[in-house]
Amino acid sequence: MDEAGMSGPAKIGILTISDRASRGEYEDRGGPAIRSYLGEVLTSEWEGVARVIPDERGGIAQALRQLADEAGCCLIVTTGGTGPAARDVTPEATLDVCDKEMPGFGELMRTVSLRAVPTAILSRQTAGIRGNALIVNLPGQPKAIAECLDAVFPAIPYCVDLIGGPYLTTDPERIDAFRPKKKG
Ligand code: MTE
Repeated sequence: MDEAGMSGPAKIGILTISDRASRGEYEDRGGPAIRSYLGEVLTSEWEGVARVIPDERGGIAQALRQLADEAGCCLIVTTGGTGPAARDVTPEATLDVCDKEMPGFGELMRTVSLRAVPTAILSRQTAGIRGNALIVNLPGQPKAIAECLDAVFPAIPYCVDLIGGPYLTTDPERIDAFRPKKKG
């Protein structure tokens, strides 16, 4: 983690991937939903770095690299572009820039989402590590954001510890972050 990423509030990327929202044809509701979720859950200092971009594989990869490498984000949450349609390329762009895939995130999010909607299996959402950043894909539906993040957030602070990021803390009434006890 570079100096910029470690000092001050933890930087968290909020990346909305949508052709129509990026053209201003409709209001981005996913990005603000992620921001308000993080505001409810995190008790450590953080700062959101938000972008709204079209469903272009190269552009998504470039935005992810910029958020991880230049903005120093320890966590980047994307919304949209995870489905089967021709323009849905967020998981491909995510894997283009990641050193490691973290398949457990997508598996768990699809499992819990299936309790809410049978079409949850249409999302190819995944997660991965780029340097000191954890990237997590969410579907574009704003209501999917809390459904998915509630499932995986307990493991996110420890994952960020393991990749050399800042120490994130959560409101235990909202999300009980799990950190295994150190072996002594
Ligand atoms: N997951 C949750 N939790 N809630 C949802 O409403 N929508 C599904 C699925 N996963 C949904 C969900 C639908 S209808 C689709 S097409 C896929 O996510 C992909 O959505 P995306 O292309 O907007 O990312």
